[in-house]
Amino acid sequence: MRALIVYVSIHHKNTEKVAKAMADVLNADLSKPWKIKPEEVMEYDLVGFGSGIYWWRHHWALLKLVEDLPRMEGKKAFIFSTAGMNIPWYNHRALKKRLKEKGFEIVGEFSCRGWDTNGWLSRIGGINRGHPNERDLERARRFAERIRMIA
Ligand SMILES: Cc1cc2nc3c(=O)[nH]c(=O)nc-3n(C[C@H](O)[C@H](O)[C@H](O)COP(=O)(O)O)c2cc1C
Repeated sequence: MRALIVYVSIHHKNTEKVAKAMADVLNADLSKPWKIKPEEVMEYDLVGFGSGIYWWRHHWALLKLVEDLPRMEGKKAFIFSTAGMNIPWYNHRALKKRLKEKGFEIVGEFSCRGWDTNGWLSRIGGINRGHPNERDLERARRFAERIRMIA
């Protein structure tokens, strides 16, 4: 099984920590949406898509990459994120909808809290300082192990 993780992590590299922990378990290649072409994504059997949550959705470049993909029937995908407010059913909805429209089978979703100093939060040192922490990353590794078993 060939696995790829495409991610964006611009605020504090919170999501990058999660992406790398998962990639170690899945032996997955790591890339950014602006570094990979849609036809290259097609070479993989399993693709993880993740980013920080910016204004209640994944990063626009990730959403754009998915929009540019051809039909992906028979391919598996998983979604992940880090966020100031960890509400995955809400934060993941835009990406999930686009992946389903492309024909991906979504095999799992993971999210955890991430250090957030956006806007006025910077005045109080932000929220979730220290996250993702080792416990969050251990959860991410266990999630990836489950994905590896079913994919
Ligand atoms: C411009 C901006 C907008 C954000 N919007 C949200 C949001 O709508 N909901 C939320 O829970 N967190 C929000 N956050 C917090 C980030 O999702 C959180 O810090 C995340 O862990 C950042 O991941 P990163 O370090 O990988 O970029 C926002 C952060 C930034 C910088």
